[in-house]
Amino acid sequence: MKLQTELISIDRAHISDSVMERAGELLRLGALVAFPTETVYGLGADALNEEAAQKIYAAKGRPSDNPLIVHIADMEALEGIVKTVPAEARMLAGAFWPGPLTMIFDKKECVPPGTTGGLSTVAVRMPSDEIARELIRRGGGYIAAPSANVSGRPSPTTAQHVYEDMNGRIPMILDGGPVRIGLESTIVDLTEECPVILRPGYITLSMIRGVAGRAEIDQGLIAEDSSLSPKAPGMKYRHYAPRAKLQIVEGPLEGVVSYINRKCADSERTGIICTEETRERYFCGNVKCIGSRKDELSIASHLFSILREFDEDGTEQIYSESFESPELGQAIMNRLLKAAGHRKIDISE
Ligand code: TXA
Ligand code: MG
Repeated sequence: MKLQTELISIDRAHISDSVMERAGELLRLGALVAFPTETVYGLGADALNEEAAQKIYAAKGRPSDNPLIVHIADMEALEGIVKTVPAEARMLAGAFWPGPLTMIFDKKECVPPGTTGGLSTVAVRMPSDEIARELIRRGGGYIAAPSANVSGRPSPTTAQHVYEDMNGRIPMILDGGPVRIGLESTIVDLTEECPVILRPGYITLSMIRGVAGRAEIDQGLIAEDSSLSPKAPGMKYRHYAPRAKLQIVEGPLEGVVSYINRKCADSERTGIICTEETRERYFCGNVKCIGSRKDELSIASHLFSILREFDEDGTEQIYSESFESPELGQAIMNRLLKAAGHRKIDISE
C-alpha cells in the first residue's frame, strides 16, 4: 500500500509542540516516523511493539536477522529493558550519553525478538539530538531506529535523502536539517569480559579505553579475509554501495593523485573523491571534495551524501583517496571500504 508521506520541517529553536505530539502519537499507534539524530536520520517505531518494529524491515527491505537499536531518552529507561548494567557501561554512559554511542546488553523479556532479530541481547543508544529526544519521550520511551535508508543504500544525512528512499512507504519524516556527524554510532558490546567495538564511529577506541580502562576491536571487522565474520549482524552485509564501481587508492598522497589523474584521463564519467588539500590538482573527471584532512568531521559528514550524488550524476566508476588515521579515520575507512566492496589499489606495492 502506498502511503502519503508528510515531510515536516522543524525549527530547532522552537520545536513545535503540536507536530511532535502528532509524531509521537503515530509511533504510539504502531506507525513509522523518520527523524534526525546527531549521527544519521533514523526510521523509528515503538521498540516494544513487535508488529510496529516489523514494519521497519518491510519499509527498508532489511533482512530480518539484522537487529535494531533501541533509542532511549534517559537512564531510567535503560533499566526497563536490560538485565544488568555493568560498571563499565555506567562509566561509558556517564561520559558519552546522550551521544553517538550504542551499547549491547542482555535484554529483558519485554523486548520482543522481532526487535532484536531473535537475539537475547539488545542494542541501546541515547541520542543527543533534541528532536530525537523529544520524539522518544512522546513516542513511549523506547524507539527502535535503524538508519532511514533502503537497505544497502548510503545512510541518510538529510531529510531529502530519507524522502528519496522512503516516500510512499512511511507516513511522516521530521526534517531537522543536515546531521552533525554523518556516520552511524560506535557500537560497543558489554556482554563480554572486555568491551568490544563492533562498529567504529565518532567515539573512538582510545576514547572508550580512556573511560572504561580497556576495550578491543571486533577481529571480524578488521580481518582481511572472510575467515572471521563480524559480530554485529549488520556489518556483514554490503552497504552504502553506490551504483558506480568504487575503488580506494592507497599510498603516498602524491602518487595517489597522479594515479587517479591517469585513470580519469580516459573517461570524463569517472568520479573522484578528493580533499581540500588536493582538489586543485585534479584536471579531469567528476571531482567532488569531501572535506579537509585537517577536519575529519567534515569528511565524515559528507561521505554518504557524496555517494548519493554520484548515483544522481550517473557516474560509472569512482576513485577515492584514502583516509587512514587512528581516530575518526577508522570509521570513515570502515564505511568507505564497505561502499567499495573492499576494492583497494595500493600504488606503493
Ligand atoms: O547512529 C546510529 O546508530 C543510527 C541512528 C539512527 O541512531 N542507527 C543505526 O542503525 O545505524 P542500523 O540499524 O543501521 O545499524 C544497527 C547495527 C547493525 O549493524 C546491527 O547488526 C547492530 O547494530 N546490532 C543491533 N543490535 C545488535 C545486537 N543485539 N548485537 C549485535 N549487533 C547489533
Ligand atoms: Mg544502517
